[in-house]
This record gives sequence, structure tokens and C-alpha cells, in this order.
Amino acid sequence: MISYFKLIPPPGEQEVILDVAKRQAWMHGEEIGKLNELIRDLYDYRTSTLTSNGFSTLFISLKALKLENQPILIPRSTTCFAISNAVLASGNIPIFYDLDIQSLTYDLTDVIRLAKNHACKYIIVVDHFGITNDLNELKQQNLFIIRDGAQAVLNNIHNTNKADLLLLSFYATKGLNGMDGGAILSDDDKFIEACDQLIYYDHQSAFSKAYSFNFRPNNLGCAMVLNAYKNRTGILQSLETLKAMYDKAFAGLDSIHLYGKTQTFLQRYAIRFLNDKVMAAMDELRKKQNIQIPKAMIDVADATAYPYSENSSQLVNTVYLLPYYYGFSSTDQLEVISAIKNEL
Ligand SMILES: Cc1ncc(COP(=O)(O)O)c(C=O)c1O
Repeated sequence: MISYFKLIPPPGEQEVILDVAKRQAWMHGEEIGKLNELIRDLYDYRTSTLTSNGFSTLFISLKALKLENQPILIPRSTTCFAISNAVLASGNIPIFYDLDIQSLTYDLTDVIRLAKNHACKYIIVVDHFGITNDLNELKQQNLFIIRDGAQAVLNNIHNTNKADLLLLSFYATKGLNGMDGGAILSDDDKFIEACDQLIYYDHQSAFSKAYSFNFRPNNLGCAMVLNAYKNRTGILQSLETLKAMYDKAFAGLDSIHLYGKTQTFLQRYAIRFLNDKVMAAMDELRKKQNIQIPKAMIDVADATAYPYSENSSQLVNTVYLLPYYYGFSSTDQLEVISAIKNEL
């Protein structure tokens, strides 16, 4: 079975883990501070803080912004429930916008319509699969923009197209693996101070005493992220090579739209099939179970309550992920390509 994702450690990872073990610096240690400093510089934000995962960056941000019962614009279809969960768990109201069918970013017309109808002041945009959102037009809409860059960690570096907040995840399948972990970046010191008060029970003074959380980052994960960052060139090259190979292999097939044509570095290789014949062939291949090819997008809204979202409903059924990760061998990739071509 060729799985769609596997963790291949970058050089130096074992040594880093042994060093952390020797120092007994699993949970606390200097790497937390070092990673926090590094990301602040890389993403050009004034200030930042680290958390336990991507979900908590969303939840804590909404809490630290002191939003309650606020309509918040979020994508109707995406890859996981983290965003809608965070909006609901923080006591706010999700307003589902449709996606742009090509880039998988927001559909601007739908965003403008919904923002007006629901008096929205906040939007969460997602850089799906690493395809980084262009925010210029959105910035003219007077919305507070939260960029969920969980899937585009290595892409948002020195990105001048800055959102009000940038959120990152260091979960194992993301650009820089820290097993788990997250980061919140902002230019507002007071906001990050408010986030810090929400990360751990002891610091929590900002909201309801009825419940409190432990969203702390761990030092081992931060040490791993720092090491992965040292190896970023190798990681990027490995993925660029895989991308070029898939792009070339499928370039002649009109029936397939490749998100791989983006200029940015892709963290996932998503592919959309445009006709029923190709999709039936793909489903046959999926049934054989020699190669894992999951469908990539889910509908995060209740379809009965929110019946219509044209592009998103198409995307839910037609986007597949091909095996694609740092260290994925060219032999296995060729097997994936020929299996798809045979089925077609
Ligand atoms: C776009 C997006 N946002 C948030 C998350 C949540 O991150 P985590 O798994 O670190 O909680 C993920 C990944 O799972 C994601 O892909």
C-alpha cells in the first residue's frame, strides 16, 4: 500500500530528540523561546505566541479578540472541522462563504454579499494545500482578516500580503513537523498578551472562570520544528521535484485541473477531476486499495440548514489528494502515475 502521507524525518532529527532527552527538556526549555523568535522574524509580525496546535490558535484568537455571538465568515468546504469547531466553541456564529473554484481561496463576490447581509466584521481565510491567498481585494472590504496558514507554513515567510493575524500549525502533516504545535502572529502586543492569558490555566484571567484550558506548546516539538526549518531547502526541493513529476505526467489530460500550477510551494498535491468518466476510474482505483487517494474536501456546514454553495459542493466530490510528502520515492511516485494512467 502506498499511503498518501508518511513521516520521513529530516536529517538531524534523531540527534535533536536525543539532546532534548539528555537535558530532560521535553516540555520546558529554550527551544520554545527560540522558535517564537524565529517565526516572528520569518513572517514579519511584531509579536507572536506558541500554542499546542492549530485548533487552539483559532479558538484562542477568537477568545482574545473578545468575540461573542459574532458572525464570522469561514469557508463552506475545507479539509477539516478545526475552523468551524473553533467558531462554535468560542460562542460565535459561522457564516459559510463559497470558495473560488480554481484557487480554493474565498469567492470574493460571495464574501461581499454575506458580509453585507450578516454585518460581518471578521473573516478566516485558508491557504488550502499551501496555495497562498492574495488578500489585496479582500483588504478593501473593511474586514478583520485571520489567515489560517496551517497548510502553508513555509509559504507565508516574508509574505508582504499580510493578514491582521496569521495562524500556523506544526502538526505532523504540515510543512514543518513538530508532532503538534501552533503559532499566533500579530502586530498588536495587547492582543498577544490576551492570547497568552488563555494558553494555560494559571494565566487565565480574561474570561469565564467556569472553564479553562491547557493549550501549551511542548519544547520537544519546538526543537523538531527548528531542526525541520534548518532542513527547509531539502524539504522544499523534495516536494518541488514531486510536483514537477505529477504536473508533467498529467499535463496532457484536459479532464484534469491541476492546482499544481500555482507559483507557491504546495504542501499537498490536490487534483480535481472534471468529468464523470475520470472520476469513476479514480473510484475504481481507490477500491483496489493499493494506493491511498483520499478525497480532500469536506462540507463543514449542515447541508439542510445551508443548502446552496455552488463551488464548494463541487469541490467536496471532485478533489483528491495524491501521495505527496518529503522523502516520497520517485519509484513509488511512478507507480502512482502509471496506476492512474492505466485506470484512465
Ligand atoms: C486549515 C487548517 N486549520 C487548522 C488545522 C488544525 O490544526 P491542528 O491539527 O494542528 O489542530 C488544520 C489541520 O489539521 C488545517 O489544515
